[in-house]
This record gives sequence, C-alpha cells and structure tokens, in this order.
Amino acid sequence: MKIAVFMGGISTEREVSLKTGSAVLNSLIRQGYEAYGVNLTNENLVTSFIENEYDIAFLSLHGGCGEDGRVQGLLDLLGKKYTGSQAAPSTVAMDKIITKKIADSLGIKIPKTYTNKEEIDKFPIVIKPSKEGSSTGLYICKDMEDVEEALESLSNRSVIIEEYIKGVELTAGVLDGEALGVLKIIPHDGIYNYESKYTGGKTEYEYPAKISAEAYENAMRNAKLIHDELKLSGASRSDFILCNDKVYFLEVNTCPGMTETSLLPKLATLKNYTFDDVVKKIIFTSHK
Ligand code: DAL
Ligand code: MG
Repeated sequence: MKIAVFMGGISTEREVSLKTGSAVLNSLIRQGYEAYGVNLTNENLVTSFIENEYDIAFLSLHGGCGEDGRVQGLLDLLGKKYTGSQAAPSTVAMDKIITKKIADSLGIKIPKTYTNKEEIDKFPIVIKPSKEGSSTGLYICKDMEDVEEALESLSNRSVIIEEYIKGVELTAGVLDGEALGVLKIIPHDGIYNYESKYTGGKTEYEYPAKISAEAYENAMRNAKLIHDELKLSGASRSDFILCNDKVYFLEVNTCPGMTETSLLPKLATLKNYTFDDVVKKIIFTSHK
C-alpha cells in the first residue's frame, strides 16, 4: 500500500500544512508504511493528484483548497481513496457562517453573529475570514473605525462578524467517532493568534482542562454532535470559548493541525493514543 502525503497548498495556512505533512510523513515512515510527501504549489495543484502513484491520499492540507472540499471532490472524480472528511461535509465545515447556523439549530450555544456592519449593536466584535483557519486575518474591533479598517483589509475575502466573547479558549477532538477530551489554551500574552499557536513556549496547554464538569461535558458532547451531524470522518477538532461557565462554539476543523505544537495529538494522549496511533486511525478511516 502506497501512501502519498499531500501538504503545502496555496492557502494562508500553507506553512502550517507543511509542518503537519512532515510530521505525518515521519510517522508513516517510522511505522514502516511505504510513503512519500507531495508539496502542492500553484503549478502542480491539480496535476499531482492525477500523475502521482498512490493507493491512499493522506490529506495534510489546511484552509481553502485542501480542507474545503475541492480537493476531496477531485479525488472523488479520480476514484482515489483519501483521509479525512468527504467533499460536501468539508465544504460545509470550512464555512464558519454555515457551521454556526447548524450548531445553533442543534441547540449549541454560539456567539451572536451579524450579517453586516449596520447590524452591530455592541463592541468589541471579531471580524475574520469565514473560510480560513489558524487565526489568519483575525481582527478584534473596539469601535466602528476598527470595523471599517478590518473590512477594508479583508475586502477580497468573505468574512464573519461576531460578538467578541472574552473568555478562555477550549478545544475538543474527535477521532474515528470517539470524543477524545477537552484542552484549555493559556496563551502567555493573553491572545491566541497565529504567533502564539505556532511558536513553541508561547502558550500553555492544560489537558484535561481544569474546568467545571458541566463545561467539560458540554464541550465533549458538542464536539461529537458536530462531528456526527456534519458527517465528518477521521479526525475533527471543535474550538470553543468558555465565559461565565458557558461554552460557546466557534468552529470545527476537519483537518486539524498535527504540528509539534498542535492540539489534536495532545488531546489523543488523554486516550493513551500516541501520534503514530492517531495517524494509523486516520488511515484506517480513509475512504473513496
Ligand atoms: N487550522 C489549523 C491547522 C488547526 O485547526 O489546527
Ligand atoms: Mg480553524
């Protein structure tokens, strides 16, 4: 069985994806799989899926064009087996606006979301790209001037405008249908952004999160509910904010980061799964 690890890509999370892909590839080789890596760029974005030889495409791609269903759709057309979620669930999960509407319909608490800037009735608010991850392009706005500035600089991307909930970030993972646990994020300088996410030592992680039993249970249950309702496969990781013991759902990642500082491998240790176990389980759940 030959496995190609697709990584890189053309989204804003390219560098993170390269790190995820390398860690996955190292694990596959360590476990004795026949595996190789493919660095996706603008030039080989489509052709490398067609021209390479592989039995399973291990998708280590984050963000648009990799995690958003388009690559999955291409692999469907090619009749190739791939890891992670299928095309339609990936497209839905990548869009924070649609996912939050689904979460809301399931009775999951979400931050108030505004359709346009005219609706904003309090500050601070968050403006961020609605179809990207890793906190790229995230703005916390304290007044209308900040809002104008954020919208101007994100004018070529679709955005989500939502209430800023000041609290603690939590994340909960699901692997092969099993809820793994809840992790609390404690960034040293107070904000969990691209820098604190990917610079070692910038953030502390507490797992299992020391929060009330109800909050813990809520995050676990809702991560699993989102995973099941959206019909996700392989691994997913849902992010939440905890404020006054209430747990607000922010988003779900269908191809969670697997870098050295990433959260899913940490969550997996709560079930005594090593990094290699996680990779093996993701392969086991691959599908056509
Ligand atoms: N979007 C990044 C890779 C994550 O959720 O881990
Ligand atoms: Mg994300």
